[in-house]
Amino acid sequence: MTQLTILRYPDPRLHTVAKPVTDVNQRLSQLVSDMFETMYEAAGIGLAATQVDVHERLIVIDVSEKRDEPMVLINPELVWRSEETRLGEEGCLSVPGIYDGVERSLAVKVQALNLDGQLQTYEAEGTLAVCIQHEMDHLLGKVFVEYLSPLKRNRIKTKLVKQKKDEERDAAR
Ligand code: NI
Repeated sequence: MTQLTILRYPDPRLHTVAKPVTDVNQRLSQLVSDMFETMYEAAGIGLAATQVDVHERLIVIDVSEKRDEPMVLINPELVWRSEETRLGEEGCLSVPGIYDGVERSLAVKVQALNLDGQLQTYEAEGTLAVCIQHEMDHLLGKVFVEYLSPLKRNRIKTKLVKQKKDEERDAAR
């Protein structure tokens, strides 16, 4: 397994719209293993292929406390979302150290292929529902900070750009 590099906001590649997966094959299961390793190592609960610079409709999720309930969504489609919404705090492995409120549907129903290439339907609520919506946004090139006000977003952008420069300078020393 390989740990992959997670793109960081405001990297423009995070705004790429992912294409459907055309073949559930060995290459894809390798990518899924690598994405899980990367996500667990970074202590995240979800990771979209977009975040590791692979622009295919693929998501890995594990919202369990014991980190033993991996979930793979290939070509996910939202088939239903509740009208009822809730404002919850979100973070993102591509936006390290930033947490802010985003309004999401309380429950969703999603259809996706699993690693056996079978179409599955999942009903989710709570954290899992939020995570699915957050990761599916990544596949459309959308990062959660885009739901925030332009003022907040610019502040985050400036902070992360400075953080990256500082890291590069430290690494060069
Ligand atoms: Ni994210």
